[in-house]
Amino acid sequence: MSAFDLDRIRDESGAAALDYHEQLDSTNTRALELAAANDRQLPLLVLTNHQQAGRGRGPNRWWAGYGALTFSLVVNKPIADVAQKNWPLISLGAGLAVAEAIESLVPVGDVRIKWPNDVYLKGRKVCGILVETVPHQPDIVVLGIGINVNNSPADAPPELQAFMTSLVEMTHRALDRTEVLLAVLRCLANRLPLLKCDAWQLAEAWRERCYLQGRTVQLDTGTQRITGVCQGIDDQGALLLYTETGIQRCFGGVVAKII
Ligand code: BTN
Repeated sequence: MSAFDLDRIRDESGAAALDYHEQLDSTNTRALELAAANDRQLPLLVLTNHQQAGRGRGPNRWWAGYGALTFSLVVNKPIADVAQKNWPLISLGAGLAVAEAIESLVPVGDVRIKWPNDVYLKGRKVCGILVETVPHQPDIVVLGIGINVNNSPADAPPELQAFMTSLVEMTHRALDRTEVLLAVLRCLANRLPLLKCDAWQLAEAWRERCYLQGRTVQLDTGTQRITGVCQGIDDQGALLLYTETGIQRCFGGVVAKII
């Protein structure tokens, strides 16, 4: 028997196709392969009970212990109808959807978005999001989402334990991952379409949840390191840093340090 209620997911997820595996190296890698083959209907949901070699942004890996929720959603323009230059907003839109889903399921408060693609619960990372594009398929995007649900930080590699949390750690009760998945997909379906013309509505919501607000941040953009006090996130999804030379709008990069 599967750990997920696959019939219910087929009925309620809104996905046109489901690709389920008991184990998988990476749902994003599988989703990219399927998207490249172009023979599945979209939205396509790739789901696994246990992801063994999850990928994070850049060279990072994503650890997912047993009980984590890891999936990728392949969506096309009618769902995420966003101009290509605005695709970075998709991580923020997805982060907001995950934050709202978590809040609805686990009312422990303090669910925040750490720009650009993490969700934090009470100051620790509970979810990572990896948005990828498909070569030669400019209208398709892969949204990879990993949420620590029933996995315990105590089982994680030691270097991660202090920075992460899971829903079970917060609530002391296991959650049904089918419920969590469906809640996230519902919130995504509510939020992603707003990216096209009503991104300001999302911007208000992610500003309210900005984890970095008021903190001094060192941002590594790949070409330079910018240090400044975070003034929030603007309507285009840029991180606003108040630096020695004034406000800088940062569209990409990795938060290297929070001081
Ligand atoms: C990050 O924190 O840098 C992003 C982590 C994204 C992890 C998810 S888990 C499901 C999907 N498949 C992957 O290989 N990665 C994403």
